[in-house]
Amino acid sequence: MARLPILIAPDPRLKKIAKPVAAVDQRVARLMDDMLETMYQANGIGLAAPQVAILERVIVVDVADRDITDPAPLRLANPEIVWTSEERAVRNEGCLSLPDLYADVERPAAVKVRYLDESNRAREIEASDLLATCLQHEIDHLNGVLFVDHITKIRRDMFLRKLQKAKKAGTLPGSVPGTVAERVG
Ligand code: NI
Repeated sequence: MARLPILIAPDPRLKKIAKPVAAVDQRVARLMDDMLETMYQANGIGLAAPQVAILERVIVVDVADRDITDPAPLRLANPEIVWTSEERAVRNEGCLSLPDLYADVERPAAVKVRYLDESNRAREIEASDLLATCLQHEIDHLNGVLFVDHITKIRRDMFLRKLQKAKKAGTLPGSVPGTVAERVG
């Protein structure tokens, strides 16, 4: 497995619509493994291929609390939301491509997602709570949408200006272990 560099916003590649994979072959399965390694290393709970500059519809997630349980990775290609609950939930979100920025985002509380797994089998998963949020956040990435696109433009512009400055100055913030910073995708 290999660790991949994570793109930091603003970056035009994070705004593109990713292409479906034809099938989950060896190459895509390896990409999923590399993305998981990258995600774990960055203390994330989700990662989408465009975040590592690959514009394909592939995401990985693992919302298991690593202090308590074993890893529970999910590898998804061509994920598609086929059902959303009417009930909505607000959760504080962060993103590996937007270091140290957090905002409350409201989304459907539960979703059903259809996808291809690492063996190219068609599957469906019904998710609620943190997993539902994480899946929606990662699928957004495949459509060029960042969590800050769900908040007001004023706050979004402020966030992105802050990051742009930090990128130029070479002082990108690092995440603080043990905080909410561990729950990002
Ligand atoms: Ni993200």
